[in-house]
Amino acid sequence: MNFRIASILLFVLFISCKQENIEVSTNEEKVAIIPIPDQILKKDGYFSITEKTNFFCNDEELKTLATFFIEKIEKSIGVTLGHTEDKKDNSIHLAIDENLSIGEEGYHFFSSKEEVTITAKTPKGVFYGLQTLLQLLPTDPSQGAKIPSVEIKDSPAFDWRGMHLDVSRHFFSIDFIKKQLDVLALFKINKFHWHLTDDQGWRIEIKKYPKLTEISSVRQNKDKTIHKGYYTQEQIKEVVAYAKERFIDVIPEFDTPGHAVAILEAYPELACEKKDFKVRNLWGVESNILCAGKEETFSFIGDVVSELAALFPYEYFHMGGDEVPKDEWKKSLHCQNVMKKENLKDVNELQSYFMKRVEDILKSHNKKMIGWDEILEGGITPTTNIMSWQGEEGGIKAANAGHDVIMTPSKYVYLNFYQGDLKVEPMAFGGYIPLETIYNYNPIPKEIQEDKRKHILGAQANVWTEYADKDETIEYLLYPRIIALAELTWTSSEKKDYKDFLSRLNNVYPRLDKKQINYHIPLPEGPTSDHIVFTDSVEVSFKTTHPVKMVYTVDKTDPNGNSTEYTKPILLKEDTDLSIASILPHGKMSKVRRLLIRKQKLLKSMNLEKVSSGLQMKVVKGYFQTVTEAEKTIPQNTVIINNLKDANKTYDWGHKVNDDNFRAVFLEGYIEVPEDEVYYFSSTQDQVWIGDQLLINHNDAVRKHPKENSIALQKGKHKLKIIYLNTITQCWATDWNTVELKYRKASEEEYQAVGERMIFH
Ligand code: ACM
Repeated sequence: MNFRIASILLFVLFISCKQENIEVSTNEEKVAIIPIPDQILKKDGYFSITEKTNFFCNDEELKTLATFFIEKIEKSIGVTLGHTEDKKDNSIHLAIDENLSIGEEGYHFFSSKEEVTITAKTPKGVFYGLQTLLQLLPTDPSQGAKIPSVEIKDSPAFDWRGMHLDVSRHFFSIDFIKKQLDVLALFKINKFHWHLTDDQGWRIEIKKYPKLTEISSVRQNKDKTIHKGYYTQEQIKEVVAYAKERFIDVIPEFDTPGHAVAILEAYPELACEKKDFKVRNLWGVESNILCAGKEETFSFIGDVVSELAALFPYEYFHMGGDEVPKDEWKKSLHCQNVMKKENLKDVNELQSYFMKRVEDILKSHNKKMIGWDEILEGGITPTTNIMSWQGEEGGIKAANAGHDVIMTPSKYVYLNFYQGDLKVEPMAFGGYIPLETIYNYNPIPKEIQEDKRKHILGAQANVWTEYADKDETIEYLLYPRIIALAELTWTSSEKKDYKDFLSRLNNVYPRLDKKQINYHIPLPEGPTSDHIVFTDSVEVSFKTTHPVKMVYTVDKTDPNGNSTEYTKPILLKEDTDLSIASILPHGKMSKVRRLLIRKQKLLKSMNLEKVSSGLQMKVVKGYFQTVTEAEKTIPQNTVIINNLKDANKTYDWGHKVNDDNFRAVFLEGYIEVPEDEVYYFSSTQDQVWIGDQLLINHNDAVRKHPKENSIALQKGKHKLKIIYLNTITQCWATDWNTVELKYRKASEEEYQAVGERMIFH
């Protein structure tokens, strides 16, 4: 879609920029490996790869690796290497040395004019040495296939270097997953946590329970569109085999006892009270969960786990345990009976009982259980492992008590969060984790006792997909932040250096281009609205989340590598169409921001004889997805509201979105502003009109965050109209945004709510 068109344009620009000699960071000057190796010594000279270069190894596993990398090198620089079992000149020697004093994943890499040698204790170590070799190849093969002479001793700081993907909220194909695994391997990520089940969809074939795929994998969204998909067991085997080739363990998550209503639509007998359940079609957490008081639940879990355990041949297995509303358990006789029998004092202890039984099932398959940190609330068994997501506290408590922990605190490593200004970036979940925040994350908080640090297995970046339904969106969220995660888990914290990481990233971007990865390039931030109004003159200034060159035009053309570089605030006195983009050193550009900067006369205020406070509100019940559709039904009866917030509260149907209270709301009256000024308005409502101008328009798209716009107003009263739809697009509820309109003077930074003293009718 627009990303794709942008990529084509960017590619064309990339080629033209290269001809203009934009500075390209190459390994001619710099060894730029990510994650940065533990020890690296750069020497003079190069090893040249030619058609005569061979991989030299005898071991069968190493020969397989050689074949794998012959293809990678061919793709990267267009040279096809051979393989030899006898040492020859100009060879890349791969060897296992079990006596090497290095960890299981470590390797030694030595390159000189004559040869390259990669030695490790294990094939996995050699694989990582070869990934390092790939990053030492030139990004531009026309510079010659040379590898700088270096000596590297490398091994990771942490065993768990993970990425998680939620395929329940939105389903992603195995081809997409394989594409990501291939890229993750380049950065030595070694765990893929596959979130396969949730309230909004079950995504894996279980032969004993066919309704899980017939029913639980199909979601009818609120807008009647269908979202469905699941992986067959054969597809799972294919992904696991593909990941294994890249030394990535695939850790399945079967989320229990909550996040399970998709199961209940197919098998309602697994709930405490049988109801007409549906695969959840609204984001958020479902209160209907698996019953802890019924033996059928544990038989079901046992059966499912026995099929899954055969598919995922790894020691760890994730059983969820997060966000479990326990009201159904409190009401249930089944649960009360079990609580009495097991002497459990509350429903948190009941969850502990539940998780212990689940862990026993896993143990019978020789699996170690991981659970989200909520399961600490009622106590855990000594062998339970914790994934700490709500913060670091759960992980700290668990590690200090001797449990193994994987750190995934949402504040630092949730990649569904924004990586730049939410008013400028495409829609994401919420939150804010720019590249530097994740890079600087240290998985070992200082509160962990010295002798307990070994319990921190590592860290993982999680991608939840409520607000990400396309392949290119996932890639945009992942890269380059997951590359920062790779470095923070591989490289010891004292060796990390953000500035240096950024410069090494420049060597990585062209490699991501070759793999057609839609990575994030910082957008020009600063103005939060693309429409800027002024009366005399205006200064527009830009910044980016991390340093990158910006270029702009004022002649309605798109900027390119030859356009004016942005170096300081731009002073404007006339109407201007300003187009600005960021440009990476190798010439690839970000999306272009187009700003309409307009000189305006103050809009004259209205001379009103008699007004009363508050706005007129008209409400019509119904499910509308567009304002045009809703406008055909504007009702006659009017209520007065004194405060914008009352637009929700005064309405009988209550505040919560459900199938009964979809509605369209029309507010009309006047807004009074205190001074002659340019005002900025900000709102999540579908439309906000001032005077006769449609100032804010969400264009019927999902309204997750406010939009802004500016207008020059004379002191006094102006016509005001607000339209909003209480609706859901797919599973995206607009009502999660309460009714609000905020304003600020152009000269001020902070917005404030349009209060009751400012509205009239
Ligand atoms: C989670 O984010 N609910 C683990």
